[in-house]
Amino acid sequence: MTDKALSIDHVLKDRGKTRVLDDITLSLASGQRVALLGHNGAGKSTLIKSILGLTPINGGTIRIGEATPGSAQARRETAYLPEAVSFHPALTGREQLTLFAKLSGAKADVPGLLERVGLSDALDRRIGAYSKGMRQRLGLAQVLLGQPKVALLDEPTSGLDPISRQDLYAIIDELAAQGTAVLIASHALTEVEARTDLIAIMRKGQMVADDTLNNLSALAGLPIRLKVRASVNADALAAELGGSRINGASVELLCSPADKMEALRRIAGMGDAVADVEMTPPNLEDLYRHYAQEELK
Ligand SMILES: Nc1ncnc2c1ncn2[C@@H]1O[C@H](COP(=O)(O)OP(=O)(O)OP(=O)(O)O)[C@@H](O)[C@H]1O
Ligand SMILES: [Mg+2]
Repeated sequence: MTDKALSIDHVLKDRGKTRVLDDITLSLASGQRVALLGHNGAGKSTLIKSILGLTPINGGTIRIGEATPGSAQARRETAYLPEAVSFHPALTGREQLTLFAKLSGAKADVPGLLERVGLSDALDRRIGAYSKGMRQRLGLAQVLLGQPKVALLDEPTSGLDPISRQDLYAIIDELAAQGTAVLIASHALTEVEARTDLIAIMRKGQMVADDTLNNLSALAGLPIRLKVRASVNADALAAELGGSRINGASVELLCSPADKMEALRRIAGMGDAVADVEMTPPNLEDLYRHYAQEELK
């Protein structure tokens, strides 16, 4: 990976006697969408705040491109959607975004940006009268100002309805397509599973996994589930394949990735006795359970 938008190297952060970031290393290439997962208190928001230079670190280095966190260049190149967005309630969406654009020095098409996040109708309404999801959308419009190198989104879909979530991921995809590296801290596993390139999982301040979903599956060696539906007799099928009956007509087998083809050959060998086979690889929830809960070495 040559084109690193964000490099985090062996970062340490202590709060009192507690080490809340413990030797964190992670890098994001331009255009990459990375999910940052972990239980409550794992250190996700702390890591994001360190990247922003909002909280000092006790060791290691962080670079946004070549810039150090908190420097003028880093601030220009980094966009942030905080866990709890708050704006001035007396300003309108248009006023608030115009203000942000002035502060960031970016030339911005404010009505265009507000339209892109679905706030055209609320352009001139006071933010105090926005719903939580509308404030979240306004926060996202702010992220879109000035083509950031890195966008840090802390639980961006919390409080959004299902359609708004889809819209948000569409905007994340656009950001990534224009070359922004996007780090998304989230608890919404099913969503990020489909919409990110890499998965990073933190546990108690440590990075316990950082790879593609496929590679993490292979590393974890979690079983693949095969559901075999019998044409006539599921008992005979269960006896032959050694799986367990899951309903009147089907049998379920668990097999390791290495044994998958052998299992499929055995099933195919049973000819007409088998009506259908469904194969389910481990999903992100299975992987999350594996990585976020296993004992630290
Ligand atoms: N302002 C603070 N002062 C002291 N300790 C803090 C502060 N903010 C966070 N912590 C501690 O740092 C650790 C990491 O917290 P952090 O907010 O980074 O977790 P998180 O992974 O974002 O969790 P969540 O999923 O709940 O948002 C926790 O032990 C937390 O108690
Ligand atoms: Mg957090």
